[in-house]
Amino acid sequence: MDIKTVGVVGAGQMGNGIAHVFALAGFDVTMTDISPEALTASVDKIAANLDRQVTREKMTQAERDAAMSRITTTGTLTDLAKLDLVIEAATEKEAVKHAIFAELLPHLGEQTILTSNTSSISITRLASQTDRPERFMGFHFMNPVPVMQLVELIRGIATDNATYRSLEAVVEKLGKTSASAEDFPAFIVNRILMPMINEAIYTLYEGVGSVQSIDTSLKLGANHPMGPLELADFIGLDTCLAIMNVLHDGLADTKYRPCPLLTKYVEAGWLGRKTDRGFYDYR
Ligand code: CAA
Repeated sequence: MDIKTVGVVGAGQMGNGIAHVFALAGFDVTMTDISPEALTASVDKIAANLDRQVTREKMTQAERDAAMSRITTTGTLTDLAKLDLVIEAATEKEAVKHAIFAELLPHLGEQTILTSNTSSISITRLASQTDRPERFMGFHFMNPVPVMQLVELIRGIATDNATYRSLEAVVEKLGKTSASAEDFPAFIVNRILMPMINEAIYTLYEGVGSVQSIDTSLKLGANHPMGPLELADFIGLDTCLAIMNVLHDGLADTKYRPCPLLTKYVEAGWLGRKTDRGFYDYR
């Protein structure tokens, strides 16, 4: 299937980045969110990011304007129903995702490919609640989407090859690189990344090192662009905890036990950059 029109559900950090890269690559993008303010903020953020690229002479004003003209917003989820591809990038709560699919499915075009940007929820289970498990896939972008090269492609048990190939071609058109992952808890990136972050939090919890010494160690000792605690704040500590719980429950191995300090921070509402407080203080 030659995908030209794309719907993005959710105008948060991920939805905003996804809309940005699709519009830039020439797709017509329709973005929706239950919050009109989130939609406005998202479009403003895309415009600001593209403006910065124009200022730095990495993009022309005409390219920037063309990309912006390809983005439309709507408060009505079913406006996405007749598009070629729908990407659900709403909050990482299974019940919310199911509710979105339930509202969309009765209106969804027969050929529309439905995907979720979930970072860890079972694709097979999400697909089983839809009328199109063969045209359903995990389509996992990394944050910040405009910068990160990888997109994980996750097949559910029933995903057909045509759907996989369509999404592989889309990733190529975005100028990004895909990696195929089987549908196991947290797929590949988060299966490896989150236990490392969790271990960094244990390292802090046990007093092996301070926040600064842990992050400096990994930045300068292993050439990571961000230290693990800085990265945890960037991703969101609630997201990190949710993914550790998916690993712990799904793989039933104590090596994935979330660090109690991570749980405590989430309980305190210290979720990282988005709440101005996490392992670092951003106030
Ligand atoms: N949106 C758009 N562009 C952004 C951006 C954003 N949020 N943040 C940075 N950029 C762009 C900048 O404009 C700049 O672009 P140019 O080079 O074209 O001018 C470029 O990225 C580099 O930015 P900076 O110089 O400001 O900052 P930096 O060199 O320190 O890099 C970083 C910032 C790219 C975020 C880098 O620190 C990094 O790669 N960090 C690790 C990020 C990471 O690991 N992400 C994966 C998280 S895991 C995940 O996403 C999966 C999941 O499910 C949880």
